[in-house]
Amino acid sequence: MMRSTLGVIGLQWGDEGKGKIVHRLSRDFSYVVRFNGGNNAGHTIVQNGQSFVFHILPSGILHPSVIGIIGDGTVIDPSILWNEIQEANRLTDSVQNRLFISENAHVIFPWHIEMDIILEKQRSCKIGTTKRGIGPVYGDKIYRTGIRMRSMLQPVTFLKELKEAISEKEAFLNQISQEPVHFDAKKIIDDYMFYAEKLHPMIKDTGSVLREALRKEKSILLEGAQGTLLDINYGSYPYVTSSPTTIGGATTGAGIPPSSIHDVLGIVKAYVTRVGEGPFPTEQKNELGEKLAQEGHEFGATTGRPRRCGWLDLPALQYAIDINGITSLALMKLDVLDSFSEIAICTEYKNGFSPAFTETELIYQTFPGWNQPTRHCKTWSELPPKAQNYIQFIEDAIHCPINIISVGPGEKETILK
Ligand code: IMP
Repeated sequence: MMRSTLGVIGLQWGDEGKGKIVHRLSRDFSYVVRFNGGNNAGHTIVQNGQSFVFHILPSGILHPSVIGIIGDGTVIDPSILWNEIQEANRLTDSVQNRLFISENAHVIFPWHIEMDIILEKQRSCKIGTTKRGIGPVYGDKIYRTGIRMRSMLQPVTFLKELKEAISEKEAFLNQISQEPVHFDAKKIIDDYMFYAEKLHPMIKDTGSVLREALRKEKSILLEGAQGTLLDINYGSYPYVTSSPTTIGGATTGAGIPPSSIHDVLGIVKAYVTRVGEGPFPTEQKNELGEKLAQEGHEFGATTGRPRRCGWLDLPALQYAIDINGITSLALMKLDVLDSFSEIAICTEYKNGFSPAFTETELIYQTFPGWNQPTRHCKTWSELPPKAQNYIQFIEDAIHCPINIISVGPGEKETILK
C-alpha cells in the first residue's frame, strides 16, 4: 500500500474543477476526506457521460474501494447529506458502509439558513453568500453555542438541545429581523430525529480513524472545498467563506498532523471566476467575460448563479501557491480559451499584491490565441504550440510544475505532462 497523504486545494475563488481531479486521483487512495465547509461547495463529477454534483460527500466516494470521511472542520446539513448518500447509492456500492462522519462536525439547522438570509439582507456591503447557513453555523461554533454531530448519538440529549435551540433561536431572530420568524418545532424535531437515527452508524471519531490509517501507512487524499482566496484568514476578507480553505485547515479539519502531508496539488483554472460579491481585479465586465462564461458554462454548481469571469491573475496565484506550499499544479479548462484570438494574463500589481485586492493597477501580458480545438489532445505534444507557450509562460513565472492539464469535463480529457 502506497504511503502518501495528498492535499488537493483550489487556488482561486473556488470552482476550479477540484471534483474532476479528486475523482480521477482518488481511486488510488484508501481514504478521501472533506475537511472544511459544508454544502456551500459543489463538486461536479462526470462519470459515464453523466454529471453529478456533490455538495458535502467527498467526491472520491464513487469509487467502491474508497472510504469517505467528512471531517471535524466541516458543517453538515443532515437533509442534504442524507439525500446525497441516497443519490450516491444509485451510482456505487453501499456508501453508508464506507462513510464516516465526524462527531465534531457542527450541524446546520433552519435557523442558520434563516440568519444567513437576514444578515445578508441587512448588510450594506453584500457578501453574496450561498444562503446555506454557513457563516451562522461557524459563528455558533466559535461562540461555543453550536450543536455537533456527536449529539445525534444520544437521542435524549439531542432532543433536549433541539427544543432549547428552537425557542432560543426563534426569539433571537425575532429581535434582529424586521419580519416575524416562526419555526415549526414539531417538523424540525421529527426531521432531525429521523436524520439522527439514519446517520448514527456513520458518526465516529474520524480524526482517530485517520491517525490509525496513517499508522497503517494507508494513503489519504484531503479534498479542499472552495478556494484559497475565499479562506477566512487569507482570502479577500470580508468577501470570503467562514472556514479555512487552505492546506493548514486540512490538518485541523481532519485531525492529522501537518507533518503527515506529503504533497499539495493546486487546482487552477486557465482563467479566473468568482461567484458572489467582492473584489476581482482581472474581471472582464465586457464581451470577453461573457464569452468566458459562455464557453466555460460558468454557472454556480450550488446556487446556479452566473459566475463572474476574468483573466488569469499570476500574483494572486503565486500568493496561493506560497500559502499552501503547492508542489504541483493542475491547470483546468484550457479548452475554454480555444476560440479566443488573444488571451491576457495579469503579471504584476503596480502597487504590490494584497489579498484585500484594494486600489489595484494591473500590468497584463497578452498572448496570441491558438484558435483551434484542444479537447481531443491526449499528450503535451498534441497541444497547439501557442497553447504550449501559454502554459510554459505560467509555469516559468510561478516556478511550479504544471503536471496535469484538463481540456474538457470528461475524465479522458486530461493530459499528464
Ligand atoms: P458562504 O460560504 O455561503 O458563506 O458564501 C461566502 C462567499 O463564498 C460567497 O461569495 C460565495 O459565493 C462563496 N462561495 C462559497 N462556497 C463556494 C464554492 O464552493 N465555490 C465558489 N464560491 C463559493
